[in-house]
Amino acid sequence: MECAAVFAGLQATPGLCHRPLLPPRGPAEFPPLNRRQFCPLIVKQPHVSHCNNTLRVASPTSSSVTSELGDIDWDNLGFGFVPTDYMYIMKCAQGKNFTKGELQRFGNIELSPSAGILNYGQGLFEGLKAYRKDDGNILLFRPEENALRLKIGAERMCMPSPTVEQFLDAVKATVFANKRWIPPPGKGSLYIRPLLMGSGAVLGLAPAPEYTFLIYVSPVGNYFKEGLAPINLVVETEMHRATPGGTGSVKTIGNYAAVLKAQSAAKEKGYSDVLYLDSVHNRYLEEVSSCNVFVVKGNTIVTPAIKGTILPGITRKSIIDVAVSQGFQVEERFVSVDELLDADEVFCTGTAVVVSPVGSITYLGKRVSYGGNGVGVVSQQLYSALTRLQMGIAEDKMGWVVQLK
Ligand SMILES: Cc1ncc(COP(=O)(O)O)c(C=O)c1O
Repeated sequence: MECAAVFAGLQATPGLCHRPLLPPRGPAEFPPLNRRQFCPLIVKQPHVSHCNNTLRVASPTSSSVTSELGDIDWDNLGFGFVPTDYMYIMKCAQGKNFTKGELQRFGNIELSPSAGILNYGQGLFEGLKAYRKDDGNILLFRPEENALRLKIGAERMCMPSPTVEQFLDAVKATVFANKRWIPPPGKGSLYIRPLLMGSGAVLGLAPAPEYTFLIYVSPVGNYFKEGLAPINLVVETEMHRATPGGTGSVKTIGNYAAVLKAQSAAKEKGYSDVLYLDSVHNRYLEEVSSCNVFVVKGNTIVTPAIKGTILPGITRKSIIDVAVSQGFQVEERFVSVDELLDADEVFCTGTAVVVSPVGSITYLGKRVSYGGNGVGVVSQQLYSALTRLQMGIAEDKMGWVVQLK
């Protein structure tokens, strides 16, 4: 099946486009849309072409998009979904390669009730952020790492995946098209959510016959309501997030449904989230529901090694390099719960949380506090170093930041 075609089983919410589309004109512009009336799309050839509710982008590199900001309360952004203007869709048949995708107006999608993702959880997601700089430039942080992780995950889940270049082009196109939803500097970021799913119909257990790669975005503020204030974690001793040989190391959707029960119970008791132990010994740290964990003792920072049951976080990898460059000794190895309870500081890392200091850990009813009820010195130092890089405030000696022009 031709991958660039408008996806037969997936369509933007109907009835939103009341005005005809204008012929291609001028530099590529992605006009802001309001919820009731969508504006004409004004696009530039040969890079972009359009049909009905679809905008096709071959090489999205123009910065001449509207600088108008979306109409929301930018001072009170949380980590909740805010609908934006466009989403990106690309599809391909099983055994084939993704070829060309397109931007569509953001809206609901249609799936067969028999779709692989709905019946057998054949799906992956990614998460990355775009920041707006004071000078108007837009920055992405290590997006090729997300592309590579999606590829590895797709292989584990028997799915075809976009190439790194296709992934990057799609991310850039989606960010540009939704530029007005990137928060002003210092107010947050645009969270980018790529999805890869078995969208074809299947009844007997098997890989789906068709796959869809989709990207949507949402402006976000802090993930934990605490912000940079310390979070309170509880160690889960009965339920496990992952097992050796399983899928803990890839961002497959089922990993997240599986942690909801423990997370909900923890939240009911006033904790921010759950820290998981390994399923073999029930003694070594794994990770939090959606972030990696680090333990600080003196000048040494330890974090569980990547061995198949935890997600290889891009923030984790970056923090390790930043910490080493700042003179810390960093060890990736088994970290026992005893070491955790004896730590000077504990913090979590992830795209959504960036660096989140841990104020207390409760293990088998015993509560241990860290950082004297404030943000630990090391957590604060690493948080500042990383966010300054991500926001383009500090010089990017690592070559991690991608600037969209
Ligand atoms: C289970 C899990 N661990 C760790 C992370 C952190 O990964 P990253 O730093 O790449 O966002 C995530 C991010 O979503 C996650 O879902």
